[in-house]
Amino acid sequence: MKSTMAITLALPKGRIFEEAMPLLARAGIVPDVSPEATRKLIIGTNVADLRIVVVRASDVPTYVQYGAAELGIAGADILMEHGGDGLYQPVDLSIGHCRLCVAAPVGFDYAGAVRRGARLRVATKYVHCAREFFARKGVHVDLIKLYGSMELAPLAGLADAIVDLVSSGATLKANDLVEVEQIVPISSRLVVNQAAYKTGRDRLASLIGAFSQAVRT
Ligand code: PRP
Repeated sequence: MKSTMAITLALPKGRIFEEAMPLLARAGIVPDVSPEATRKLIIGTNVADLRIVVVRASDVPTYVQYGAAELGIAGADILMEHGGDGLYQPVDLSIGHCRLCVAAPVGFDYAGAVRRGARLRVATKYVHCAREFFARKGVHVDLIKLYGSMELAPLAGLADAIVDLVSSGATLKANDLVEVEQIVPISSRLVVNQAAYKTGRDRLASLIGAFSQAVRT
């Protein structure tokens, strides 16, 4: 068990991680060892009673929601898919910029299919976001849940289109896909456990302030 004074910050592995480290430094937080140089999952920092846990990006909201971490960094995509229950999202960290998009093979008449009211098969890891988006547009879709490499689905004949994150666009291009519709721009947020915030307001408020400051510097 951790001491009641200790604060845990959940950091996501993967694409956000590299941008998160300089932001932490600007917020005055330096890990005792580089998370990339160790297989340890719990890492101390230079800030008294602040430790870092490194988890899968999609697990960050869960750690924070249940109070296993008081703070976390999570992409807006992950937060929308999670639902955000029990979480404050006080700071847009302005890292991990990308967009959630619909993409389809070059030459596929997506707009025509939508106009005709065709039923589309769409592969995605973002089932909730995709369901809401297509429902709002009145587009009929069968959603196929995948856990990665969505770009393969149209090429392999599994789906007509995908809903996925696009950053540089290189992955789409390399797989003969094009963005046909943007759903929402994405960036990473600082998330805070709501109950912990109410009880440990001073300590958490000063860390939240340090992150807000770091975003502006
Ligand atoms: C994301 C996304 C695309 C890729 C897009 O994957 O799923 O595959 O990045 O980036 P690009 O437009 O710059 O090519 P990520 O690397 O986050 O890994 P994931 O498959 O685990 O989501």
